Amino acid sequence: MLEVIAAVSDVWDSDRVGLRISPLNSYNAMQDSDPVALTTALCNALSPRGLSYLHVMRADFLGKQHGDVLGPARRAFAGPLVANMGYSPDEAARAVESGVVDAIAFGTSFLANPDLPARIKANAPLNTPDQSTFYMGGAKGYTDYPTLAAAAR
Ligand SMILES: Cc1cc2nc3c(=O)[nH]c(=O)nc-3n(C[C@H](O)[C@H](O)[C@H](O)COP(=O)(O)O)c2cc1C
Repeated sequence: MLEVIAAVSDVWDSDRVGLRISPLNSYNAMQDSDPVALTTALCNALSPRGLSYLHVMRADFLGKQHGDVLGPARRAFAGPLVANMGYSPDEAARAVESGVVDAIAFGTSFLANPDLPARIKANAPLNTPDQSTFYMGGAKGYTDYPTLAAAAR
């Protein structure tokens, strides 16, 4: 990973390069004996490289690996820190306000809500993501969730 970051940063300025890591995620049989220590070591190595951001997935899809990876990432990585996985808008706002992270990314709720920022701003209800359409081909579940405006029509 560090070699790839170095190679990419040779082509673009490193402040145009971001990295996403999923240190706890055991999806596809990915496991580590000590994911928290791995996160700390990696963040120490990444910190001087001037990346535009580090994005850390905070949990495991399969619930097998546990631990706080955001705290160690915050302490070891000096640049902008983004987190994701299972945040509601309220929890996201609290996380940013507390300074644990600089930003939260939304995946499934953005998939199900094409107007997610407007909905959050208006404190409007969110469409529920339909897991049966995840990872499928075609438009269903990707481009057919209603916006607030469409739902009101
Ligand atoms: C349809 C779909 C496709 C995804 N594809 C990828 C992918 O290619 N690479 C990846 O790292 N994560 C992928 N993810 C995981 C998301 O990036 C994100 O980590 C996950 O949905 C948890 O965040 P959330 O709770 O905000 O949805 C995918 C998720 C969904 C629902």
